[in-house]
Amino acid sequence: MYGGGYIFDEPNRRQQHDEQLHDDPEKLQQFEARITAGAKIEPGDWMPTEYRRQLTRLIEQHAHSEIMGALPEGTWITRAPGFKRKLALIAKVQDEVGHGQLLYNAAETLGKRREAMINDLLSGKSKYSNVFNYPAETWADVTVIGFLIDAAAIVNQVANAKGSYGPYCRALERICYEESFHLKQGHDAFIELATGTAMQRDMVQQALNRWWQPIMHFFGPPDKNSVHSEKLMQWKVKMASNDEMRNQFLDAYVPKIWELGLTLPDEQLRKDEAGRWQYADPDWDLFFKVINGGGPCNAERVKVRKWAEESGRWVRTALMHSTHARALPVA
Ligand code: COA
Repeated sequence: MYGGGYIFDEPNRRQQHDEQLHDDPEKLQQFEARITAGAKIEPGDWMPTEYRRQLTRLIEQHAHSEIMGALPEGTWITRAPGFKRKLALIAKVQDEVGHGQLLYNAAETLGKRREAMINDLLSGKSKYSNVFNYPAETWADVTVIGFLIDAAAIVNQVANAKGSYGPYCRALERICYEESFHLKQGHDAFIELATGTAMQRDMVQQALNRWWQPIMHFFGPPDKNSVHSEKLMQWKVKMASNDEMRNQFLDAYVPKIWELGLTLPDEQLRKDEAGRWQYADPDWDLFFKVINGGGPCNAERVKVRKWAEESGRWVRTALMHSTHARALPVA
């Protein structure tokens, strides 16, 4: 098991210390002027300690979400209907794990080592997306994840790819290309059920009913209760607020669901005259319970990741040894 807390490499620890000494108003002002001018901040640039801390938190949570997100769909690889759906699902699950790699790399540029991030995930210190703490009960659940959760993720990621931190934006750009393809395959599988037999339509309706609230939660608490939004938006890490992103998602996808004659489990859901979506307030107590470890699958998800971490340790050790061996001078 890795040691707890942040593990910083020596140069990064010095850099952090330096920043704390020099986190002065003048530097902060210059930094904020660069952000306002639309500059990208790169790992070697001066940045306020709080910007580094917030970005590390956000990118790390995002990375964890990708590798945890592979689990509910992963359980369906052997059960996906037919060879082509299996192939597409295998590729998607691999992509999601790859997104985790890209994001852990981006988070590492801020000074926190991968081992410390994984350790914080396994100990429950770090959060990951609420949506991955629910079971995928039927194939229809997999189609809802592939269509609507990937769509929700794209809304968030397309916006934040235009943000201020270079390594995160570049990772998000690449992720968005792959997510768009996931969305297409999710949409295709969803449409197949929605236009299929009565039993298939019923399956997809039941899955929608189960996933609607977690999807509404996905964008985070309402703006008035969002702890980090104001600062993150000022620093162009978040390019839209939680409510703005939720609204964008509803605008693009509710009509697509209604067009298919399917319903959503919210009688108050409608677009008002000003073009904003009105909806019943989702159960925010449940949201906080789920993101703090109390959802239906949190324990199971963490258990699987612990197993993967322990079972894969020998591979990492062997790779480290072979890298060191190659680095030795030839006698
Ligand atoms: N799942 C889990 N936790 C969530 C969440 C969600 N869907 N939405 C919000 N939270 C957590 C936040 O992490 C924060 O907890 P913390 O202070 O312990 O870290 C708390 O709820 C308050 O929320 P808020 O102040 O609004 O957080 P935020 O400004 O970080 O916004 C996101 C939340 C999800 C919009 C933001 O973190 C984000 O854009 N993340 C990157 C994309 C991502 O992770 N996508 C998920 C996988 S595809």
